[in-house]
Parts: sequence; C-alpha cells; structure tokens
Amino acid sequence: MVSSRGRVVIGSLAAAVISLGVFACGDNDESNGRGPDDAPDPEPLFRALEDDLIKTCGGTNGTCHVRGSFQQAPAWLGGPDPYVTVKKYRGVLPATKEVGDSILLTQVRHAGPALADAPNDLYRRVSDWLTAEVPGPPLPNTGAFSVMSGFNSIPLDTVAPGLTNARLTFLATETNGTLTLDALKLVAPDNANVKVDSPFFVILPRSGKVKADPEVNGFKGELTVAAGESVDLFTGKMILLRWDPTGRLKVAFNKIESTPGQGTSAGCTALELFKSSALPAMGKLVDILPDDDQDAGEPLGQGSCIGCHGKAPPANEAPTPAVQAMDLRAAATDPAAACAQAKIWINRQDKAQSTILLNPMGKGNPQHPMKSLAESDSIIVGIKAWVDAEN
Ligand code: HEC
Repeated sequence: MVSSRGRVVIGSLAAAVISLGVFACGDNDESNGRGPDDAPDPEPLFRALEDDLIKTCGGTNGTCHVRGSFQQAPAWLGGPDPYVTVKKYRGVLPATKEVGDSILLTQVRHAGPALADAPNDLYRRVSDWLTAEVPGPPLPNTGAFSVMSGFNSIPLDTVAPGLTNARLTFLATETNGTLTLDALKLVAPDNANVKVDSPFFVILPRSGKVKADPEVNGFKGELTVAAGESVDLFTGKMILLRWDPTGRLKVAFNKIESTPGQGTSAGCTALELFKSSALPAMGKLVDILPDDDQDAGEPLGQGSCIGCHGKAPPANEAPTPAVQAMDLRAAATDPAAACAQAKIWINRQDKAQSTILLNPMGKGNPQHPMKSLAESDSIIVGIKAWVDAEN
C-alpha cells in the first residue's frame, strides 16, 4: 500500500516537473533530463489529440487554421495530412529545441483561443507531443535577458563549459517596435578561443508567441574569436522587427565551443592608472539606494564601489550579487586581477558608453543601487581617466 501510494506521488511529481519546464516559456534554467531514448514515438501522440486540436484551432468548419479562409489565418492544420503540415509550419517545432518556445504553446488569446484555455487538457497533451517531436537537448543559449537602451554586455558564462568571461556586446536602440543592435561583438575571454556556429536571436515577448526564427533573426556559418579578442558577430548588426519593449531576448547557438588559448592583451594595459586613479575613486563614499527604488526615496546609508563590489561573503556563502556582477575583491591584494574584472565593463569601441561609467551615473542598469553621480563628479572623473587609457 505504502509503495503504491509512493509510486503515484512520484509519478505526479514527474509530470509536474515536466509541465513546469514547459510553462517556463523560454527560460532555460531547468533541464528536464529527457533524452532521445526515453522520448516516445511522436505520431501516435499527435493522432490522439488531432481531433481536439482541430476542434479548438480549426474554427467553424475549419475556417481558421485548417482552411485559413477566416482573416487569412495561417493554415497550419491544413493539407491532406495535418500531421505533415503542422510539423513543417515554422515555429511549431521550435528552432531552439526548447518546447516552451513553440508558437503553439506561447500563442495567447487572439481572434481564436489560447491553447492553455482549451478543454480536455489539450495544452499538456500538445506539450507532450512536442516534447516527443523535439527530444532535445535544447540548443546552447544565453537564457532570457532584458535589453537596455545603449550598451549591453551579455555574459556567455553559462552557455557552455569554458566560456567564463566570454560575452556578447552591442549597442541597442529601439524605435517604433524595431530593435536595432549595432556594434554587435563576440568577446572571447583571455584564456579561451571561442567558436560559434549560426547564432540566432529569439524574441520573447512579455506575452504572446515566441519568435525563434534563425532564417530571419540569425546569422549563418561559423566564426572563431581568438582568446582576448573581440570581433564583429558576422555583419555586426541585427535588426529585430515587432519588438515588444517589455519583452526579452535570448541568443541560441547551433553550436558554441571553446578551446584553451592565451590572449596577448590579457589583463589591463593601464594598470598604473587603475591603481592611482580608478581605485581611489572607487573607494570614495556614495549614497546607497534600495535596488528597486532608483533615485527615489531616502538613501539607505553610505558605501562605495569597492565596499559593495569588493565585499567578501561570510564563510560558505555565495558572493553577493554586486561581486557576481563585478568582482573587485582583489582590489587591495592583487590590483591586476581586480583591474581585469573591471575592464570587462569597458566598452572598447565607445569608451564613454562603458557600463562602469554609466552605472554610477544612473544611465546603465536601472537596478543599480546607488544614487546617480554627475559626469563631473570626482569619482567618475577618476574612473574615466583609467577607462580612457585602457586598450
Ligand atoms: C550598494 C552597493 C553598490 C555600490 C555602492 C555600487 N554598486 Fe555596482 N553593482 C551593485 C549590484 C548589486 C550590481 C548588480 C546589479 C544587477 O545584477 O542588476 C552592480 C553591478 C555593477 C556593474 C556591472 C554591470 C551590471 O549592472 O550588472 C558595474 C560595472 C558596477 N556595478 C559599477 C559600479 C561602480 C563603478 C560603482 C561606484 C561608483 C558601483 N558599482 C557602486 C552594487 C553596488
């Protein structure tokens, strides 16, 4: 008795975990551990839900997604065999190989219903079928990130092993629903060469269909960046249409790998100025704000760049978010190491657009928890003297 109860509980837990993964809609924080081997044959799963799917999405007499006669609805269930049609329809089997990115699961209520509102558990059944069609693993990807207007630096640390300190950088501008990424670069860390194959941008609107279309929003081919270098990502420019400013992006790679390397430009070239100008500036007092309340309300007290970014965590605890973002813990003991960390936040193409200057001026990360400084403030001037000299 106990063991059969136990089995039921485990079974429903497993189902809960799978559907959680699907509901995460593009957040790839979880791997649900499925592989080609334990994936069932997809076609019978589709056949079992085919009638319900046509009833829900086909509309009256199939005028919607079967025949497409109503408001030019795309006929992704049309043709002699809906199974063949649906699998070919762009976005149904997501290019990211992450089922949660399928347009079938992320479409919201439109002229027709959202799948999530359909009866007979249809959403879950479609998820299960898609999971069988796309057994994974998902393509390596950055996970979802927000885009700031201006300079952005997207860490690739978690995309694949050996990519610590590798990043994508770009300047973002948004006008009337078009997001333009300029000066788009792949930056290799000082100790590894990075090779990417056919990266593409995935648009994750706040609600609505995920757009994962390598043909439209991606580059084709391979690119290798030597350790310590940064190179234009293919054309260095990407224009994304129908951008929702409250949405997020994700970059997926057909392949990404690293090989050990040694950059010639390892570390800082203007270390003396870092020590004599930037470090003293970063030790000066600033007003600390609650993270969620940028430049509004009373300061929580005073601190400094080094105070937050150089703070060692209590024994056995993870580094603070400030240290994870920029690790200056070695400022006193090994300034060259601290300098190399700070240097990550220099925009080498446009020094004035460096996050290390923009953040304390309130023009970078809106969550940055300190009161904004003027450009003429001695702290900014002190950091900038080093930033300008660094190459
Ligand atoms: C009250 C603590 C605090 C102070 C003071 C502080 N920072 Fe930060 N800083 C943070 C936190 C927390 C983050 C991570 C923010 C996040 O993840 O959204 C951060 C992130 C950063 C980043 C990385 C980019 C980013 O937004 O993740 C840079 C660069 C930076 N700070 C520079 C500075 C400089 C320069 C100063 C001093 C002029 C400074 N910070 C002062 C807490 C602080």
